[in-house]
Amino acid sequence: MNKNDCGQEKTPFLDALVKYVKSNPTALDVPGHKLGSFHTDLSRKISNVFMEYDANAPYGMDNLYNPQGVIKEAEALAAKACHADHCLFSVNGTTGGILTMFVACLDVKDKVILPRNVHKSVINSLIISGAVPIFVDPEIDHTLGVANGTNADKVIEAMDENPTAKAVFVINPTYFGVVSDLKRIVREAHRRNMIVMTDEAHGSNFYFSSKLPLSAMDCGADITATSIHKNSGSLTQTSFILTKGERVNFSEVRRAFAMFSSTSPNAILMASLDAARKEMALKGEKIIDKDLSLASYARKEINKIPGVHVYGREYIKEQNNSGVYNIDETKLVIQVTGLGMYGYEVYKELRRIANVQVELGEVSVILALIGPGTTKKHLDNLINGLKELSKQHYKAKGSRKIPSYNYSYSKAVVPPREGYDAPNKIVNLKDSIGEISGETVMAYPPGIPIVIPGEIISSDAIKMIEFFHKEGGEVLKDTTIGKIKIIDRSRWHLAKEFNLE
Ligand SMILES: Cc1ncc(COP(=O)(O)O)c(C=O)c1O
Repeated sequence: MNKNDCGQEKTPFLDALVKYVKSNPTALDVPGHKLGSFHTDLSRKISNVFMEYDANAPYGMDNLYNPQGVIKEAEALAAKACHADHCLFSVNGTTGGILTMFVACLDVKDKVILPRNVHKSVINSLIISGAVPIFVDPEIDHTLGVANGTNADKVIEAMDENPTAKAVFVINPTYFGVVSDLKRIVREAHRRNMIVMTDEAHGSNFYFSSKLPLSAMDCGADITATSIHKNSGSLTQTSFILTKGERVNFSEVRRAFAMFSSTSPNAILMASLDAARKEMALKGEKIIDKDLSLASYARKEINKIPGVHVYGREYIKEQNNSGVYNIDETKLVIQVTGLGMYGYEVYKELRRIANVQVELGEVSVILALIGPGTTKKHLDNLINGLKELSKQHYKAKGSRKIPSYNYSYSKAVVPPREGYDAPNKIVNLKDSIGEISGETVMAYPPGIPIVIPGEIISSDAIKMIEFFHKEGGEVLKDTTIGKIKIIDRSRWHLAKEFNLE
């Protein structure tokens, strides 16, 4: 046990919930099912156990927005486990955490330096906060067709070019497990009096093992949101918002936090955070050792299969340390184009022939995630599924050619808030080249926008949208297939201000 384990065997919120329900209270408060006394097909077809523990905020169980008792204690234990000063239990995922940090830390027109391959929640946070993005292009791996981290030199250059920027935002790690040199970025940002905010939706495991890349808090970042649900064992929708130091005002963070969460936070979700934190704080190192050894086994076996390839640590060198400072080896990024198939097809086929559900399929890769619950059997099922696909498809079609669009991002001419608020009209996709987007369009997953409000719609963006539609990647947008919302410059009073008349 190290000094941060101290008290980590406790689960104050979970214990209070169990004690309350076991006391068999007369529930004349919400929710209306009265601790599982009212049955629906949910309880009939799945189980009633969740309903029995679905208490709202009875006396003695504290208030998430003004914690004075068991929630305060549980959040303090989580902060300690993650080497942070403060923790908030988000029941609105890292999405809620990112909205919270933008609104808490940035005012309208404040500049924030960030990579363009951010999740849609970041774009929404820019719209809501009114902050102005200074986008830095991430490094693109054109072979795999994925965006990696951002080269620290480029981020520092952006800091020098924008000395009045208030914050730097970093993804730690990307969906595919790649991290930038966050420690260096933090050092340089703090030297310039800029705060550092991070998206750790895919990095909660970093807090519990010394064999993974460094966590945001250990790099000295000021605020982060991390999806405990994605790889540390809590229920879906639950994240920690963590802060450290004096650069962010924690009472402002708490104020913004309450704006983006229900006033009826789900107690089971919160209890799952309390329980996952205990497990990972006490046993995380061992659990993640198991995950890493399974990952190493899977890499070895998958790389014997003709037509597929999964990279390991050698990838860092291959990318010349550019945008790939380190990787999380529990994420298997499997290149599948050697089968003559797109990642989308392999994603569906693995489910059909082997009942294996991977995290996502992209153009060239599929992504399989190893977590605390992963066993060797799970990975053997994946390996056998890939072997079967290799038997059926390898050589038959030859290597699939990657589509010819550029993996470049569109150019912003208007900040996202103004782009979103501007009057708009809906046009055919093919007529929108050169127009300014009034909406966010993305393939989901990974949920990284192809175009956002205020950006010029390029022919590459259109090609990408059409390609995703055709090949079966899900495209999320406001308008129907084949259409897009653009800014109607003729009706926009700010058109002159932005030189867009
Ligand atoms: C990079 C990234 N950031 C943020 C989020 C949002 O996290 P959550 O699902 O916990 O709200 C996601 C979700 O997939 C993500 O991929």
